[in-house]
Amino acid sequence: MRLPEQIKRLGLVVGVLVAAVLVGRFAVIPRSLVATELHQATTVAREIAKPMKFAGTAACQDCHDDVSIKKAKGYHKNLSCEGCHGPAAKHAEDPSSGKPAAPRDRKSCPVCHIYDASRPTGFPQINPTSHNPLKPCITCHNPHDPVPPKVPQECSACHGQIERTKAVSSHALLACTTCHKVPPLHKTAPRSALPSKPETREFCGACHGKGAPQKDAPKVDVSAHGGRFQCWQCHYPHLPEGRG
Ligand code: HEC
Ligand code: HEC
Ligand code: HEC
Ligand code: HEC
Ligand code: HEC
Ligand code: HEC
Ligand code: HEC
Ligand code: HEC
Repeated sequence: MRLPEQIKRLGLVVGVLVAAVLVGRFAVIPRSLVATELHQATTVAREIAKPMKFAGTAACQDCHDDVSIKKAKGYHKNLSCEGCHGPAAKHAEDPSSGKPAAPRDRKSCPVCHIYDASRPTGFPQINPTSHNPLKPCITCHNPHDPVPPKVPQECSACHGQIERTKAVSSHALLACTTCHKVPPLHKTAPRSALPSKPETREFCGACHGKGAPQKDAPKVDVSAHGGRFQCWQCHYPHLPEGRG
């Protein structure tokens, strides 16, 4: 039986490919790339010949034991010194040859701490554009012992503008909590627990209504004064203006 022409041509193409692979494998490619032992030996030799750049965290301890001890107790205990300071073998051998770089800017810490859904649950993450922008991270966090600083608890720490406004108003002597019930959680995670705000005209009327016990508070007729509007639609509660 005669083979069809196209099969013969296909056979020729396959034959040429096989021949090319065999020639390449045994004649062109150097033996060091195909013989496993030889390959390993030349790679090891090549890597050993490279200059050492990293000294390893243990080496830093000899001269910087204050930093090493501090770091060993903190959240960053498992980080390598040179992961932040860069290769420092030269410096470790001869400190007068130069100081390693220290990442004092805002760019290096987010490499590990920027929000990223693929990081493990609970890994401390922040959004660098909203997390205390403008200041370098190290103004608030010690890089060798990064305990998150305590959040301030007073209302004025976060509502400074309102506090300063109220301080010069006729409501200066009223505590914020006279008018706002503040859940404790609001002071540490503000957005997850919002304080209450006055909701009715009667709330203000408790001090300003005719016959209310608060003597120094000027009185109005709550049922008529200001019509059907809420009191704070006309009086800013943190700086209320009256007749004066
Ligand atoms: C043989 C002692 C020695 C070893 C080992 C050593 N250092 Fe230093 N290091 C010094 C001295 C000395 C200084 C200079 C201190 C100074 O000028 O205040 C210094 C300064 C530094 C600084 C300060 C840079 C700055 O901007 O102030 C850093 C960071 C530093 N070393 C990191 C390392 C790291 C990381 C290692 C380990 C890979 C290491 N050092 C190993 C002696 C050593
Ligand atoms: C998370 C990154 C990070 C790691 C890990 C780290 N450092 Fe630092 N290091 C910094 C930064 C940032 C500064 C600059 C601090 C400053 O200027 O207030 C610094 C400053 C220094 C300084 C100079 C000022 C000082 O505090 O004495 C030395 C020395 C130093 N590091 C050594 C080390 C050694 C040794 C290790 C490992 C035990 C290490 N660092 C690990 C980020 C790091
Ligand atoms: C190489 C990655 C890496 C870099 C760079 C790094 N960190 Fe960390 N950081 C970690 C790890 C890992 C932890 C410990 C996480 C844990 O315990 O679950 C940590 C913990 C922290 C914590 C503790 C948060 C908490 O409440 O648990 C703070 C704050 C922190 N880092 C700030 C910084 C700052 C500031 C810098 C830059 C100077 C920095 N980190 C650079 C890996 C890194
Ligand atoms: C003005 C001070 C300040 C600056 C600047 C600052 N932080 Fe913070 N950081 C805090 C405070 C306060 C907390 C604790 C309350 C909170 O979670 O907001 C905190 C918490 C953290 C945490 C822990 C978050 C968690 O979920 O446990 C990490 C990580 C962190 N900061 C990293 C950084 C990095 C990275 C930078 C720089 C890009 C930075 N911080 C700049 C004050 C600061
Ligand atoms: C750690 C910062 C922080 C502290 C401390 C804090 N707040 Fe707030 N507060 C916030 C933030 C953030 C919001 C939400 C603002 C927004 O969503 O625009 C808020 C919102 C409010 C609101 C508005 C609620 C609403 O429904 O609009 C009131 C009222 C309030 N805080 C009162 C207080 C009082 C009173 C105190 C002191 C006892 C206090 N806060 C302490 C950060 C704080
Ligand atoms: C006399 C009662 C009163 C006192 C005292 C008071 N507030 Fe208010 N506050 C209100 C009322 C009423 C509103 C609602 C205003 C509105 O909805 O327009 C309000 C609204 C707010 C809001 C929402 C945002 C805004 O600016 O309207 C914040 C935040 C707030 N108060 C914080 C404070 C803080 C902090 C203090 C103490 C420094 C304080 N308040 C004291 C009555 C009071
Ligand atoms: C429609 C706007 C409006 C509303 C709503 C309103 N007020 Fe007034 N309020 C005024 C004006 C204007 C003045 C100053 C002139 C006056 O005394 O009529 C005033 C004055 C006051 C004074 C000062 C009286 C004095 O003798 O000095 C008090 C106290 C007062 N209001 C409390 C309230 C209270 C409480 C509410 C809610 C029950 C309220 N206001 C609602 C517009 C309003
Ligand atoms: C706990 C009592 C109390 C509550 C509640 C209260 N106030 Fe007052 N308010 C006062 C006192 C006291 C003064 C007068 C202080 C002074 O003049 O020395 C005052 C003054 C005023 C004035 C007059 C300011 C002036 O310069 O004449 C207005 C308007 C006012 N409050 C509005 C309100 C509004 C609106 C609310 C509700 C959101 C409210 N107040 C809730 C106690 C209170």
